[in-house]
Amino acid sequence: MTRGLQDLIMSPHPVPRPGVLAIDPYVPGKSAAPGVAKVHKLSSNETPLGPSPQAVEAARAATGHLERYPDGAATRLREAIAAKYGLDPGRVVCGAGSDELLSLLAYAYLGPGDEGIFTAHGFLVYRIAILAAGGAPVVADERDLTADVDAILDKVTSRTKIVFLANPNNPTGTYLPFEEIKRLHAGLPPHVLLVLDAAYAEYVRRNDYAAGLELVATSDNVVMTRTFSKIYGLASLRLGWMVGPAHVVDAVNRIRGPFNVSGPGIAAGVAAITDDAHLAAAVAHNEEWLPWLAREIAALGLKVTPSVANFVLVHFPDAPGRTARDADAFLTRRGLVLRQVGAYGLPNAMRLTVGDAEANRLVVEALGDFVNEAVHA
Ligand SMILES: Cc1ncc(COP(=O)(O)O)c(C=O)c1O
Repeated sequence: MTRGLQDLIMSPHPVPRPGVLAIDPYVPGKSAAPGVAKVHKLSSNETPLGPSPQAVEAARAATGHLERYPDGAATRLREAIAAKYGLDPGRVVCGAGSDELLSLLAYAYLGPGDEGIFTAHGFLVYRIAILAAGGAPVVADERDLTADVDAILDKVTSRTKIVFLANPNNPTGTYLPFEEIKRLHAGLPPHVLLVLDAAYAEYVRRNDYAAGLELVATSDNVVMTRTFSKIYGLASLRLGWMVGPAHVVDAVNRIRGPFNVSGPGIAAGVAAITDDAHLAAAVAHNEEWLPWLAREIAALGLKVTPSVANFVLVHFPDAPGRTARDADAFLTRRGLVLRQVGAYGLPNAMRLTVGDAEANRLVVEALGDFVNEAVHA
């Protein structure tokens, strides 16, 4: 090595830029229960109905030419989404899951010194995306495990560039009525991008809820993200989409990978979004079992946060042998895999995805046994 190069050495190996090593890697929901014959995975908010058979068939048919690049603009899928929601396809961007789009939005709008806001028990990917983009995460308090518009607005500074809000939120299942979303938007400076993450929108059955399309259509700083991973049952294909103002769409299209959505993904997405009967069945299933689970679990004496999504947050006592960790071990031994949510600031709760009838009944039975065993221990 020449002397000139020696002088240039700053560290013995390449060092990521500030922020990267501050990221706690995302830990997905468990999927295994060692030694148990039948496992019910209720840890990632996946649908118990699976995808539309038409989507499966479309994906399979699209494997005929895997040597060919897909349409980088995902035109057919954007058109199908736009037709369903009455949108301009030019305002839609598809992604490898909505996670990718959340990251791309952070990359496009945050730089060193910029701040991104999310709420105390908000979806973990926001923190990761903000730090990865070089920005600073800013956490707004919640009230009753629900986003609080005033607390978010209180956190806005001249450095704020983006606000991420999951509505409904994961892992709490709580939501803000559209009036509150509009109040949040009205209180933000026009240069701040408001990202409404509506991953669970299809499940919500409340008159005062709106996913955000109207706000996207009438403003210059609002984006809505959606996913095919939850009610459409296509999590494995990695498929999401966003709609936003033309200037935001332009920015995201400049930085996304040129072929970020696969051919089978595009084909399956088109088939899924046009299968209204399958969607209706998934909604009906949730409408039946979400209240049932909430009621039955509450009847066992465990606190359940009211949810409008396809999962419930169950709270456990802070007493030895009765904690969320103890419950997790107990349920896992029976093949019932839920999600611990300590990383969300909820160390004594677990998130339970609405499963099929068998899984739901088994969970309630097992939680009943857990509560009784703990009481008699
Ligand atoms: C609130 C929320 N947003 C986004 C996602 C990401 O979904 P995907 O990347 O699979 O589209 C999830 C998945 O857990 C979620 O809960």
